[in-house]
Amino acid sequence: MPHEDRRFDPKKCDALLAPERWQRWNPPELLARTGVRPGQRVLDVGCGPGFWTFPLAEIVGPAGEVLALDVSADMLAALTARRPPAQVRTRQSELPRMDLPRAYVDFIWVAFVFHEVQPPAALAEALYLVLRPHGRLALFDWRPDAASSGGPPRHHRFSSQQVCAYLSAAGLYAPREIWRNQDAYLITALGANPSETTG
Ligand SMILES: C[S@@+](CC[C@H](N)C(=O)[O-])C[C@H]1O[C@@H](n2cnc3c(N)ncnc32)[C@H](O)[C@@H]1O
Repeated sequence: MPHEDRRFDPKKCDALLAPERWQRWNPPELLARTGVRPGQRVLDVGCGPGFWTFPLAEIVGPAGEVLALDVSADMLAALTARRPPAQVRTRQSELPRMDLPRAYVDFIWVAFVFHEVQPPAALAEALYLVLRPHGRLALFDWRPDAASSGGPPRHHRFSSQQVCAYLSAAGLYAPREIWRNQDAYLITALGANPSETTG
C-alpha cells in the first residue's frame, strides 16, 4: 500500500475525540462558516471516529444524509459505536478511490486529511467528480507554518495556496481561503459550472 506513512495511526483514534479538540476547533461554529445546510447530502472525507460527522448530521437533520468515508475499519467501527443518528452512513474506501456516482453529493467536508492522501491531484479530481454542479466543498487543514506544535509533520502539510491550486486544476470553481487562525485554514470551492459539464 503506497504512502501509508502519511496516514493517521488508527491506534490514536481516541485523541481525535478528546474534549480539548472540540474546544479548540469548535465544530458547530466552524461548520457554520462553510454554508452546509439542512437537507443536504454530505460526504465527510476521511471521517475518522466522526468528530465532524456528528455535528454535520445535526446540521443536515433527518431529511439530509452524511456519508462518512474512511479507509480504516477501526475508525469506522469507533464511529458506529458512538451510535450516530439514522442520517449517517459509513463507507470504507481508500482515497482517492470512492466508488460513488458522479455529482452524488451537495457538500463535501475534508478535515485534516488532504495532506495524508497521495497523490493530491488525484484526490482533488475525485472530489471534483463526486460534487454536484454548484455544490460546495470545504477543506480544513494544518498550516505548514502553524504556531502550535503537534499535528502531522510539517513537510507533509500544504499551504492553502497549494491546496487551492490543486482544487482549481481539478476543475473546482473559485477556491479560496475563507478563514484561518494561527494553526489551520479553511478553504471553500464550488462544484463544476453546469454549462461546462453539458454537451
Ligand atoms: C487526522 S485523521 C482526521 C479524521 C477526521 N477528519 C477529524 O478531523 O477528526 C485522518 C483520517 O483520514 C483517514 N485516511 C487517511 N488516508 C486515507 C485514505 N487514503 N483513504 C481514506 N481515508 C484515509 C484516516 O484513516 C483518518 O481517519
